[in-house]
Amino acid sequence: MFSGWKRCLLRLFGARIDGTARVYSSARVYYPANLVMGRYACLADGVECYNVAPVILKDNTTVSQGAWLCTASHDVHDARHPLITAPIIVEDQAWIGARAFVGMGVTIGQGAVVGATASVYKDVEPWTVVGGNPAKFLKKRGVKEY
Ligand SMILES: CC(C)(COP(=O)(O)OP(=O)(O)OC[C@H]1O[C@@H](n2cnc3c(N)ncnc32)[C@H](O)[C@@H]1OP(=O)(O)O)[C@@H](O)C(=O)NCCC(=O)NCCS
Repeated sequence: MFSGWKRCLLRLFGARIDGTARVYSSARVYYPANLVMGRYACLADGVECYNVAPVILKDNTTVSQGAWLCTASHDVHDARHPLITAPIIVEDQAWIGARAFVGMGVTIGQGAVVGATASVYKDVEPWTVVGGNPAKFLKKRGVKEY
């Protein structure tokens, strides 16, 4: 509900969101101008999209409830803790499960699945399922032919 309004509001502040994409009402977007959502991309309720750097959700991607997309960190090798940032890219048909954490600079490969509560700090290979903290390969993702 209200997804259309939310889409319009985010667009007003610079987001590039396809008309088929959905942003649920309690999803939070830090900086709309750094959000790109392709066809049928979805940000579910309670998602935290901390897009200091761009977050790019390609076609048919889903980010489930309460997931964190975190494009920023602090340089731990500098005692002044300067902010560091890098984009997050979610390729076509990938799914990020509920309450997963995806760190800066990560690409979730095409068709990959990040299991619920996983913490991802490295790129995820296409058509694989990962889980745990730090996220590890669980299995290959097979999909039905229609
Ligand atoms: C990742 C997921 C899709 C895998 O589902 P599945 O293909 O049915 O896989 P299985 O349940 O057969 O599990 C395969 C193995 O991975 C493990 N596993 C499954 N999900 C996991 C997760 N999120 N984190 C860590 N390990 C996980 C299982 O324990 C099992 O381990 P085993 O081989 O040692 O027994 C599913 O567990 C999941 O996390 N779904 C997300 C749910 C969600 O976010 N819903 C949002 C609302 S729609």
